[in-house]
Formats: sequence, structure tokens, C-alpha cells
Amino acid sequence: MAQSGMAQQSGMAQQAGDASRGLHLFMADGCYECHGTVGQGGVGPRLAPDPLPAGAIAAYIRKPTNVMPPYVESVAGDQDVRDMQAYLASIPQPRPLKDIPLLAP
Ligand code: HEC
Repeated sequence: MAQSGMAQQSGMAQQAGDASRGLHLFMADGCYECHGTVGQGGVGPRLAPDPLPAGAIAAYIRKPTNVMPPYVESVAGDQDVRDMQAYLASIPQPRPLKDIPLLAP
């Protein structure tokens, strides 16, 4: 991650993250405690599948609006957020209800 701050900023939207590093960070930073190990939600809202773009996640976690603690850039940098977003994006969709016999309409 020998990129300058500028390069990281401008690459925020396009660059793909590293999902396995993202999984590690999601656990190490404690996101899972409130959002669930697969982003399914808990105290905090569901984050996956279909996570927000990395830029939106970064903007939110730096200045959360309510009970979530803030994560400043020195704690979760842009590359870290991109990797966590890649992890969340790698979480598969749940099976549709019609494929689960007990829940099929
Ligand atoms: C102490 C519990 C807690 C922890 C730890 C936590 N969150 Fe949250 N998060 C919340 C809650 C609660 C909300 C709902 C809004 C609020 O209260 O700020 C939220 C909201 C969010 C949102 C906005 C979701 C939306 O749909 O608007 C994102 C993105 C998010 N968290 C990501 C993260 C990430 C990434 C981490 C780890 C770096 C993390 N959170 C750690 C509790 C937590």
C-alpha cells in the first residue's frame, strides 16, 4: 500500500479491494460485533449482501450520525475500507425463499 494519499483518494471508487484482508479487518476492527460476521446486521444495520460503495462506507464510518463509534482514517484507511467493502461484496445472496421447502410460498 505504498500509495500516496492523493492516489488513494482518486482510486477510491474504481480499485478493487482484497476480500480476505477485508475479512480480517472487519473482525479486527470490531465491525462484526455490531454488524455480524457476514454483515447480516445486529445492533447495527445489515451491510451485506449488496454493500454500499467503498467511498460511502468510508464517509460514514469517519462521521457516523448516531450510536456507531467513529473510525478515523488512521484506524481504518481508504485501502482498509476498500478491502472491507470487497469482503462484504463477496458475501453471497441468501437462497430465495422458493428454494427452501419449509418457507416456500
Ligand atoms: C458499537 C457498534 C458498531 C460498531 C463496532 C460498528 N458499527 Fe457500523 N453502525 C452501527 C450502528 C448502530 C449503525 C446505524 C447508524 C448509527 O447509529 O450510527 C451503523 C451504521 C453503519 C453504516 C451505515 C449503514 C447504512 O446503511 O447507512 C456503515 C457503512 C457501517 N456502520 C460500517 C461499519 C464498519 C465498516 C465498521 C468497522 C470498521 C463498523 N460499522 C463498526 C454500529 C456499529
